[in-house]
Amino acid sequence: MTIAEEIKRRKTFAIISHPDAGKTTLTEKFLLYGGAIQTAGAVKSNKIKKSATSDFMEIEKQRGISVATSVMTFEYQGTLINLLDTPGHKDFAEDTYRTLTAVDSVILVVDCVKGVEMQTEKLMEVCRMRNMPVIVFINKLDRDGKDPFDLLDELEQKLFIKVRPLSWPIGGGKLFKGVYNIYDKHLNLFRASSTKVEEEFVSINDINDAELEKQIGKNDADKLREDIDLIDGVYDTFDEQQYKTGEIAPVFFGSGVNNFGVRELLETFIRIAPSPRGRNTNTRVVLPTEEKMTGFVFKIHANIDPNHRSRIAFFRVCSGKFERNSFYFHTRLKKQLRFSNPVTFMASSKNIVEDAFPGDVIGMNDTGNFKIGDTLTEGENMFFKGIPSFSPEIFKELVNTDPMKTKQLEKGIRQLSEEGVAQLFTVQHTQAKIIGTVGELQFEVIQYRLLQEYGASCTFKPIQYYKACWLTSENPAKLQEFIRTKSNYIAYDKEEQPVFLASSEWILELTQQDYPEIRFHLTSEINKDEIVL
Ligand code: G4P
Repeated sequence: MTIAEEIKRRKTFAIISHPDAGKTTLTEKFLLYGGAIQTAGAVKSNKIKKSATSDFMEIEKQRGISVATSVMTFEYQGTLINLLDTPGHKDFAEDTYRTLTAVDSVILVVDCVKGVEMQTEKLMEVCRMRNMPVIVFINKLDRDGKDPFDLLDELEQKLFIKVRPLSWPIGGGKLFKGVYNIYDKHLNLFRASSTKVEEEFVSINDINDAELEKQIGKNDADKLREDIDLIDGVYDTFDEQQYKTGEIAPVFFGSGVNNFGVRELLETFIRIAPSPRGRNTNTRVVLPTEEKMTGFVFKIHANIDPNHRSRIAFFRVCSGKFERNSFYFHTRLKKQLRFSNPVTFMASSKNIVEDAFPGDVIGMNDTGNFKIGDTLTEGENMFFKGIPSFSPEIFKELVNTDPMKTKQLEKGIRQLSEEGVAQLFTVQHTQAKIIGTVGELQFEVIQYRLLQEYGASCTFKPIQYYKACWLTSENPAKLQEFIRTKSNYIAYDKEEQPVFLASSEWILELTQQDYPEIRFHLTSEINKDEIVL
């Protein structure tokens, strides 16, 4: 197979959802179809559901599992599918954002009873920033859920996306009869079963065909015809190109646990989801078909064995062919590196890999060479863009409780921030270290890991900050002046970029008014992906 053929047959994607919507169940069904696992229950979910009372030991146990389930590769009808796992717990949302930088499309799972939930909104914001193609799967149709039209409205209003149903449910809950596939024009009849792999399809080329009454009865047939009429009137016809540019999201209905609607989702996915595409770097766009190998690190996983401090760096190949034992240029360190044991992941097992193609994700043992966002090339000096940090939600000051271990603490906190566990800001005038996270759970993780892996102990002092804003200005002198005047609220991130720590929404607004020449950004990457306030 040529490299171009290898690229064309690959689809790299992630399933995103609010916890409990059915991501793990759907993943498992996909893997069953792909023959990567033989029985349901084989995918251990690495989600940590408790949110009020965190259970850190549970995370430690789960971390072992999540390395193995970080990437799941399987084949379906000749398509090679790389499914990247995203953590379910909201405190690890930043990890999910970064994973989204390494995929070419996503499937969003929504629970039909709960509708669009908070966490989904934030995840979709990240997808929208990257014009990511999205397919929506509305799950749990075997339960009494919200009206399907209301669900579509909710998707459009809360997620700011245009939707187009490609299947439509007939009844719901106990009266759920199945779905009509608008795209392929067939009826998919529902029989509750978690084990069956085959679904029952009836071809109905014309919705007015009397076969419809025979299959679902007069009332449901009438209602379905009415609904389809309404859909055709209200929603634009599905345009694959618009899906690929992230402008329209096709919607499917089904029930993951009953393995219902999953096959048609998977088959549509392999038909329409994009293969690896070109990616932006600081100098140019890199196309997957280019001969020379390029790629970037989007995730770093620490070894759970504290006596063995190696880490696994997850690397997405963007162009060319990655080969084991070849030398590649680490563009940040300006250094040639060679990888003798890169691994790929197959459901729960890891295998040494000889080569990998664009769209593939490989794991590389790392002894501290990698930070998130690092780029490897065959000599070209550039780096991939689109892997930003977002403003944290919670800020605390790191307090060293064992002065004898200051060095260890500094090393540990630096490495943990490079791994992406939390963000580290150093306050300009006091040199205090501020840790910023998305959730409380990370503070526990940091405290535990600093002690276990670095022998350093610490506590945290809460600080009331609202947001960390990265700063730019057309006028460098004004920026310097702002940094000087606001020095009490200026800190530097791990790349030495200045950020303004705003104590409240009100203060931020006021500061913006007072300094119109300064732009305040909620992400660290200040380019077309930026969120400007
Ligand atoms: P998550 O990864 O998004 O957090 O969700 P997960 O797949 O674990 O599903 C959450 C719960 O919803 C599970 O129940 C799962 O069985 C159930 N579920 C998934 N799909 C459907 C569906 O189509 N219909 C119905 N009725 N339920 C569904 P649980 O009780 O939390 O776990 P388990 O004991 O069933 O494993």
